[in-house]
Amino acid sequence: MNMKLLHNELIDWYELNKRILPWRETDDPYKIWISEIILQQTRVAQGMEYYMRFVERFPNIQSLADAEEDEVLLYWQGLGYYSRARNLHKAAKIAASSGLFNMVQNSSTLYEQLRSLPGIGDYTAGAIASFAFDLPYPALDGNVYRVLSRLYDCEIAFDTTQGKKHFRKLAEELLDRERPRLFNSAIMELGALHCVPTAPDCHTCPLNTWCKALANNTVELLPVRKPRPKLRERYLEYTIYITPERTTLIHQRKGNDIWKHLYEFPVQEIHSLEDAHSGYSLSAPHNAASVIGAPAEVKGEKILELTHVLSHQKLHARFIIKNVPELPKIPDTVVVHLSDLDNYAFSRLTLRAIEFLAQR
Ligand code: ADE
Repeated sequence: MNMKLLHNELIDWYELNKRILPWRETDDPYKIWISEIILQQTRVAQGMEYYMRFVERFPNIQSLADAEEDEVLLYWQGLGYYSRARNLHKAAKIAASSGLFNMVQNSSTLYEQLRSLPGIGDYTAGAIASFAFDLPYPALDGNVYRVLSRLYDCEIAFDTTQGKKHFRKLAEELLDRERPRLFNSAIMELGALHCVPTAPDCHTCPLNTWCKALANNTVELLPVRKPRPKLRERYLEYTIYITPERTTLIHQRKGNDIWKHLYEFPVQEIHSLEDAHSGYSLSAPHNAASVIGAPAEVKGEKILELTHVLSHQKLHARFIIKNVPELPKIPDTVVVHLSDLDNYAFSRLTLRAIEFLAQR
């Protein structure tokens, strides 16, 4: 491979085709870090909104370090993977007190220091080191794995320990050490815009003369990932109490489970929805993330059944909406007015139920 030529072709393509994105207009490591954590969670279009709101409220590392976790979660609400937001907050406290982002950085210790922070793995450390400090570290996200697997016609699953190691080596060989910031942006953008999963336009690809998968006609078979384990099924029955004054009960989730520290309505986990102590039986087969018909009305109670898919779990949820003269006494719950629910962070599943309440 003529590396110099490859770098030039790729970077020329990038300069002509790149999107203008706010985190590319800055070399502030804090903002780059925030953008990268958000973009692990969502696509650029939606990520942009979250990013703008987040950096407006928390414009620098100190403001994030000083915030309450509940408020950080509120700005993360709807993105999912709330441990990312909790880790971001923890890491901000650590990095703000050590002054990590204030130092003039060209040192070889930066990467390891970043890597030691909660929630910062090889990808995020590489992205911050290269985008903010122009240091020669690769940053392998899903887009880059796709480009590399095709360029080298490599069918090792990239999401295994062995695969990560192998692709990292390829990325280190390919990296333009004189222009790491530009090179990493360019290869990522090529994966996002041109070397797309299905039907990429290989004729006009800047790397087509080097692409082994194109030569071997394996482009659409790559990249390879390991088989996904079956989703764990869980059944949750929530009760939404509503008084004539429009107050309700919520509580904050504890323990090491999904949605740690988010709020929700009183809930019972059951073995199946048929098992429910409420005695309601489940009416219809479940589709991913779908509302199962219109909510039924039984004994004056409204029932809303939703399924919701997380990365490793499929949740079957039933929300029983109960009009009550007054709220029951349930330990650890908070009384809130329905119109104040937007001051608390909820999971996307619970937000779907709240959206339904708002329409009633
Ligand atoms: N996806 C992950 N990081 C990105 C970035 N910096 N720009 C565009 N898309 C991305």
